[in-house]
Amino acid sequence: MISQNTIQQILGRIDIIDVVGSFVKLKKRGTNFLGLCPFHNEKTPSFTVSPAKEIYKCFGCGKSGNTISFVMEHEKHSYVDALKWLANRYNIEVEETFQSDEQRQQQQSADSLYIINSFAQEFFSRMLFNSEEGQDVGLSYLKERGFREEIITKFQLGYSPEQRDAFTKEALAKQYSPELLIKTGLVANRNDQLMDNYRGRIIFPVHNTSGKIVGFGARILKKNDKAPKYINTPENEIYIKSRILYGSYFARQAIDKADECLLVEGYTDVVSLHQAGIENVVASGGTSLTIDQLRLVKKYTNNLTIIYDGDAAGVKAALRGLDLALEEGLNVKLVLIPDNEDPDSYVNKLGAAAFIRFVQKNRQDFILFQLQVALKDAGDDSVRKAEVVNRMAETISKINKAEDFTKQQDYIKQCSQVLKIDEGGMHALVNKFIRDRIVTQERKLPFSEPGQQDEQVGSADTGNYDDATFNLLFKDELQEKEIARILLEHGTRNWDASKLIAEHIFEEMVDESLVDNQEVVKLVHTFKDALHTGYVPDKNYFIYHADPQLSALAVSLLNFPYEESDHWRRKFSQNTGYQKHLFTQSYEDFIKTVAPENENALMRFLKIDEDRTNEEVVSAISYLKLRKVKRMLLENQLDLEKPHTVAEFEMLHRTHEHLKHMEMELTRKTGTVILK
Ligand code: GTP
Ligand code: MN
Repeated sequence: MISQNTIQQILGRIDIIDVVGSFVKLKKRGTNFLGLCPFHNEKTPSFTVSPAKEIYKCFGCGKSGNTISFVMEHEKHSYVDALKWLANRYNIEVEETFQSDEQRQQQQSADSLYIINSFAQEFFSRMLFNSEEGQDVGLSYLKERGFREEIITKFQLGYSPEQRDAFTKEALAKQYSPELLIKTGLVANRNDQLMDNYRGRIIFPVHNTSGKIVGFGARILKKNDKAPKYINTPENEIYIKSRILYGSYFARQAIDKADECLLVEGYTDVVSLHQAGIENVVASGGTSLTIDQLRLVKKYTNNLTIIYDGDAAGVKAALRGLDLALEEGLNVKLVLIPDNEDPDSYVNKLGAAAFIRFVQKNRQDFILFQLQVALKDAGDDSVRKAEVVNRMAETISKINKAEDFTKQQDYIKQCSQVLKIDEGGMHALVNKFIRDRIVTQERKLPFSEPGQQDEQVGSADTGNYDDATFNLLFKDELQEKEIARILLEHGTRNWDASKLIAEHIFEEMVDESLVDNQEVVKLVHTFKDALHTGYVPDKNYFIYHADPQLSALAVSLLNFPYEESDHWRRKFSQNTGYQKHLFTQSYEDFIKTVAPENENALMRFLKIDEDRTNEEVVSAISYLKLRKVKRMLLENQLDLEKPHTVAEFEMLHRTHEHLKHMEMELTRKTGTVILK
C-alpha cells in the first residue's frame, strides 16, 4: 500500500489539465476544457475537463472520472500503479506502508538487488578504468569502436575481469548474501563454488526509467563461437525483461522534446547514437515489443520509429509488435538500415547529420510495409492473399483512438488499392473487427455507469401503482443521490453556528432506511467515519477515494459548471410537474409562455447565485422522510384490508391518521405539491 502521506502529496500536485492534456489536445471553453474523447471515436469534441472540480466527462460516451481514474483507464493501470505513475510524473517519492510479510520481503529483496547492482556497477567501472587488464582489454576495445570516455561514463559501462571470482570475492567480503548475489545473475554457483558469471566482458548496466540499475548486459570480447555474445540478467523482482527498454532513462527528456522515440536493437546502437547527439533512442534487445514496453514509449510520445537492419529476423521480430502498438495509438514508422550495417556502425560511417537525414528520408509507414511483405510472401496463392486481407483489416481495426480516425480511413483506402479490392468491402471488414472487439471490451469496463442499478426494490410490483406512486416509493434514486450531492458539495460548510451541514443531515437521518441506494449509504458512512476521526472530508476526499465505487459516484454527482442549470431544471420539474415541456423549450422561454404572471418568482427560483443550500437540505431530507411515510401508509393500508379485531382496526386507523398528518407536514416542507 502507498502511504497516506504520499497520496496526499500526489493529490496536492495533480493537475488534471496537465495529465489529461498530455494525452488529449484540450482547448479552453469557458471554465472548462474541451477535446476529442480518447475513449471513443468522435469527430466533434465532447470530452470535457473541469479544472476547478478536477473531473472529466465525455458527453458523447458518458465516461467520467478524476485524474487517477483517467490514468487508470487510459494507461490501463491499476489504482496503485496509477498513483505511482502520477508520483513519477511529479517527482514524488513513493512511500509504502501496510505491507504483508510477503510483500515486505519482496520489497526488501528488491531493495537489496538494487544495492548489489549499484555496487557491481561501481566495481565494473573501476575495473574498466583503473585495472591494467580493464584498460588494456576493455577500454581499448571500446575506444577502438569509437566510444569516447564521456559516453562510457554516462552509460556507466564497465569491464568484468577474466579472473573467475574477482567480483564474487569483493561482494562476499562486503557481506552480500550469496542467495541474493545469485539472484542478480552476477554470481553463479558451480559445483558448490560461487564464481563470477561475467568474465572478460564489457558490461552494460540497464537502468529503469528512474535511473536505478535493474540488471546488466555483458558482451563478450574474444571471438568465441560457443559462448553467447551477450549474457543478460535473469528475470528477478527488478529485472522484468518485458518492461525494460535499454536507454529509456537517458532518452526520456529527448523523446519528450523530439516527440519521437527511435527504437533500435542493440546496446551499442543506443550508446553510439547518443554519442552522435541523437538521444531519443532506446533498444528492445532484438526481441518483439511487449505491451509494457510500448506503454513506456507512449508515456513520452505517440511517434515510434523503428530503426532495424534489413535482415529478416530483426524485422520479423519488430513486425510482431505492430498490432499492439496500434492499439496503444502509436504512429509507427520503419527505417531499414542497409545490409551488413546496424545503427551503430551506420552512424559512425555517415556521421550524425547524414544519419538523421537518412532516417527522415527512409521512414516508411509500418502498416503499408507489413502489407508489402505479406503480399510478397503470399505470391499468387489466393487463399493466402485472402488471409492477408483479413489480417490487414484486423490490423487497421486496431487504430481505434479518436485522434486516429482519419488515419484509419486513409489506411483503408491505401490498403484496398494495394490489394486491388473494393474499398467498401474493406471498410465493412474493418468495422466487423471493431464491433467484435467492442463487444468483448464492454464486459471488462472498470466502472459501471452509475444510475443503472439499484432498481430492484419492488420492481416486481410495478403493476400495482401508477407511475408517480411507483417513482416515489421505489425508483427515486435521484433524491437519494441529492443527499449525497449536498454532502459532497456543502457537507463541510456550516449549517448554523453550532454544526456543519453534514452533521445536521446525519442527525436527521437517524433512520438509515431512508436511503436504499447502497452507494449512497456507503458514502454517508464514509463521510461519518471521516468526521469522527477528525478529518474534514471535502469533495476531493471522495473524488480521489481509493474505493472506485465511491469515486465514480462522487464524480457522477458533481455537475460541470455549465450543467448547473440541469439541476435546477430537475428541481423545477419536481415542483411544477410540467415535465413534458422540458426538453423542447428553453427554460426561460417555457416560463414566459406557460406562466407569464409568475415569471419573476420562477426566475428567482431558478437563480443559482443565491445561497439556497439550507433550503435544499431541508427539502431533500423531507422528501426522503416523506417517501418513508408513504411507504408506511401503504403497508398500513394493506394491513387494513386484512381481517382484524376491532381493537386492531382502531390501532391501524390511528396509525393511518398519524401518518397522514406527518405526510401533510412533510409535504409542506418539501414544497412539493404534486403528490397524489
Ligand atoms: P555489437 O556487435 O557489439 O555491435 O553489439 P550489438 O549490441 O549491436 O549486438 P547485435 O546487433 O549482434 O544484437 C542486437 C542485440 O540483440 C544486442 O544488443 C542484444 O541485446 C541482443 N543479443 C545479441 N546477441 C545476443 C546473445 O547472444 N544473447 C542475448 N541474450 N542477447 C543477444
Ligand atoms: Mn552492433
